[in-house]
Amino acid sequence: MEVVIVDSPAAGAEIAARAIAELLTTKPAAVLGLATGSTPLGVYDALVRMHQQDGLSFASARGFALDEYVGLDVDHPESYRAVLQREIVGRVDFAAGAVRTPDGWAEDVPAACAGYERAISEAGGIDLQLLGIGGDGHIGFNEPSSSLASRTRVKTLTLATRQANARFFHDDLGAVPKHVLTQGIGTILKARHLVLLAWGTQKAHAVAQAVEGSVRAMMPASALQLHQHATVIVDEAAAANLTQADYYRYVYLNKPAWQGI
Ligand code: F6R
Repeated sequence: MEVVIVDSPAAGAEIAARAIAELLTTKPAAVLGLATGSTPLGVYDALVRMHQQDGLSFASARGFALDEYVGLDVDHPESYRAVLQREIVGRVDFAAGAVRTPDGWAEDVPAACAGYERAISEAGGIDLQLLGIGGDGHIGFNEPSSSLASRTRVKTLTLATRQANARFFHDDLGAVPKHVLTQGIGTILKARHLVLLAWGTQKAHAVAQAVEGSVRAMMPASALQLHQHATVIVDEAAAANLTQADYYRYVYLNKPAWQGI
């Protein structure tokens, strides 16, 4: 696992966006794994800038969201389908229908989840998966105690996650869905490159546990330790509890110039 410590979320977002741009340049039909929440917004802004200024194209690319709420109105502005459309899909040149989210409105939830897994496989698997991290260590919406082998399925959000996300629902906790469909940890681990981003002191405990703690279901992000190509990009505040921070800085500074993240 590579840990990159940056001065600001903007600097970290730039590194992640550059990795996506390089991937799209070498593999225009790349499959991107897209996260929602606040953390990746700077990455999406940087990609939009690269699209507008440098001609970075998503025309042949495809995307899969990590997760989707269950129980929102189909046109709710905070469904992750709507959020991704607003923050990235509608701002670049993705082809119509190229980005999918799990179907949070499905009548047959197990069939929808199996179909999502199948669609990812049929697309050739995810090349680069962006990830945020919950204060409790969740990735996607795999809350603590999620199986490290889990696949796309319905999950119940913890009260802490619903409270954290109430800011997207006018601070009305009652409006935050209790259920979601989420890629499993096993699904996430199949992506070829995992890029986890974390900003701020509220993520410092989870980041340290995920990177330096034991691999366990109670800390879902610790599953990244099992992956061959995982990059963790954190700002100084989110890095505050890492015991080996100086070593990670030293490794990153001394990387061969040709090697990306
Ligand atoms: C969102 C997701 C979640 C968030 C996490 C952090 O698609 O899968 O794991 O990444 O809840 O959320 P923010 O970025 O809002 O702090």
